[in-house]
Order: sequence, then structure tokens, then C-alpha cells
Amino acid sequence: MPEIGTHPEPGTRPEPEAQPMPVREAADLANRVLDEVERAVVGKRRPLTLVLAAILAKGHVLIEDLPGLGKTLSARSLAQVLGLDFARAQFTPDLLPADLTGSFLYDQRRSEFEFRPGPVFAGLLLADEINRTPPKTQSALLEAMQERQVTVEGRTFALPDPFCVLATANPVEYEGTYPLPEAQLDRFLLRVGFGYPGADDEYDVVARRVARRREDTVLEPLTDAAGLRALQATVETVRVDESVGRYCVELAAATRTHAHVQVGASPRGSLGLALAARAFAVVRGRDYVVPEDVKAVARPVLGHRISIKPELWMSEASGTSVVDEVLKRVPTPATLERR
Ligand SMILES: Nc1ncnc2c1ncn2[C@@H]1O[C@H](COP(=O)(O)OP(=O)(O)OP(=O)(O)O)[C@@H](O)[C@H]1O
Ligand SMILES: [Mg+2]
Repeated sequence: MPEIGTHPEPGTRPEPEAQPMPVREAADLANRVLDEVERAVVGKRRPLTLVLAAILAKGHVLIEDLPGLGKTLSARSLAQVLGLDFARAQFTPDLLPADLTGSFLYDQRRSEFEFRPGPVFAGLLLADEINRTPPKTQSALLEAMQERQVTVEGRTFALPDPFCVLATANPVEYEGTYPLPEAQLDRFLLRVGFGYPGADDEYDVVARRVARRREDTVLEPLTDAAGLRALQATVETVRVDESVGRYCVELAAATRTHAHVQVGASPRGSLGLALAARAFAVVRGRDYVVPEDVKAVARPVLGHRISIKPELWMSEASGTSVVDEVLKRVPTPATLERR
């Protein structure tokens, strides 16, 4: 069967050279990263795997959940273990685009303007509570995410590579918040929730904290920016059979015709499915995608790209409930036999 993803599109700008590693090696590293992060973050292997898959797929993640569920801890821990510069920006109502991107300051001594980079110049940026800042600053962030560069007073600066945004949004605070427009939610490869820990895990959080006699757990960096670029290059080598590529398209298309849906997932959604599933396959130690990889990422990839009809806003219907139904309805392609 023909494959997609093995030939670069003609005319596309070549990525900065990073050599892929063997998939076994990449999977081993990815799983050791998760093990190390789990020394600090208790009982969140699944959402952490999804977040790591998004980072490997060069995507950005929206973490939507209540306060105190370990979002900041997870972002900081991932940055530490992946050996990335970490920056955190609190999106308050008075945050200006320049507070994020940086700005030119006058240097008295040299009598010239000098660019002072803002927090966006980081390997991993935790954009905390993005729905508390007005649209102008939100769009400065989304622009940086999309273009991987920022323009300040007509001068353009490239962001570091890798550059990954983990943005958090609190789902309960409606007052004084600026919900992201659907068109902008689309920019996030995944949306994940952390959820409450089970009682045993929560006890573990408490017990570990008491036992270590201090706030922070010190984590070992297991790789660095160059290593992460190699992991990302590995994801680009993962094959997607036509049957699996078409499955991604059918899932996205089925969200558009669902009875509860006002606007379904765009082609950016089907693309997101294929890209995130490839990264998930690498974590699972395969250099090809199986339909189970697509299913594993379908809720977090598609859920936030679906708007429900206004008359159903008070009902149980949601983006993720639509994805669940679509997953049941669309036939799964036969499992691939592998060479
Ligand atoms: N799953 C977990 N494993 C370990 N520690 C946890 C976990 N969940 C919460 N904690 C602890 O609870 C506290 C709050 O976590 P954190 O600051 O990461 O929450 P948050 O989701 O960023 O909250 P907010 O939305 O208020 O910023 C921290 O001390 C953290 O160590
Ligand atoms: Mg936090």
C-alpha cells in the first residue's frame, strides 16, 4: 500500500539538520523521560505521554483544568528532564504583547537601542491562564506559536528550536476571562486535562512531599535541545499507511456531519491526528502508525476543534462526546501486517 509522509513536499524549506535516531532508541529515551518526570508528578502517565507526544510532534498543548492539579509542576518537570530553558508567563489582564515578546530598550552607554528578549524566547514556555489576558496579547502568543518567530518594531527574531508552548486555561473562572476563539484553539495540537488523582495517588503526593522534607523534587536532565531535535526528526521518519491516513480524514470529516455539531474539525484536525499519532507511535516503539495510535490521540486532538450547536450548550454534548461517538461509528481499518 502506498505511504504518505516518506517524501518531503517539493519546495518546502528544509528543516535545520537533525539526524533521526533509531526508533527503539527514541522510544527508550521517551519512556525514561516519562519515568523521570513521574518522580515528581504522581499518577499522570497518560496525560504526560500525550504532552510529550505533542512536544515530539513539534506541537503546542493546551492544558485545561482546575487549579492545583499539577499543571505547573508537570511543565517545569518536563522542561527539566528534556534539558530545555523554561520560562513561565502569567497571563494577567494587563499583560502586554511586549511583555511576552520583549522590546527595544535604550542602552545609555552605547547610545543605541538593544533588544531585550521576553519570556517567549524559551525552549518550553508555560503560558499560564491564557484566558485571563485580552485578545491582543493572546494573539501575540498564537502568532509566535505558529510562526516560531516574533516581530518587534519591524525586526524579526527567530525563536529557539525546539520551541514549545504549554498553555493553561482554567475552565471555571468565567468572570473577567477572555475565552479563546475557536479559530485560535485550532492552533493547539492537543488539549488535555489532568483530572483529580485517585485517593492512593493523592496520598502518595502528600507522603512523598513529607518524606523529601522540601518543596521541589530535583530531576535529572536526560537530554537537551539537540537530543530533542533528534527525537523530533525521528517522528518525521514514522510511516503512515494510506488506510491509516484515510482513517484520520474520515474521523475529522465525521465530526463535521454529526448532529450536535455547528462547526467540525478542519483539515488541520486530520493533519493533527496523523502527526500526533506518529509521535505516539514513537513513544510506543514503532516506526509506523497503527489505528490504535490514532484512537489514543483522537480525543485530545479533535475535542477542542469542534463547536457544539448553541441550543445544546446546556446539555451533556461536548467536543469530546462527539469524538467518542465518531470513534464508534467510523470503521477501524484492519490492523496492519508489518514487514
Ligand atoms: N499529580 C501530582 N503529583 C505531584 N504533586 C502534585 C500533583 N498534583 C498536584 N501536586 C502538588 O500540588 C501543588 C499544586 O500543583 P501546581 O502548582 O502544579 O498546580 P497547577 O495545576 O499549576 O495550579 P494553578 O492552576 O493554580 O496554577 C504543588 O505543590 C504540586 O507539587
Ligand atoms: Mg500553575
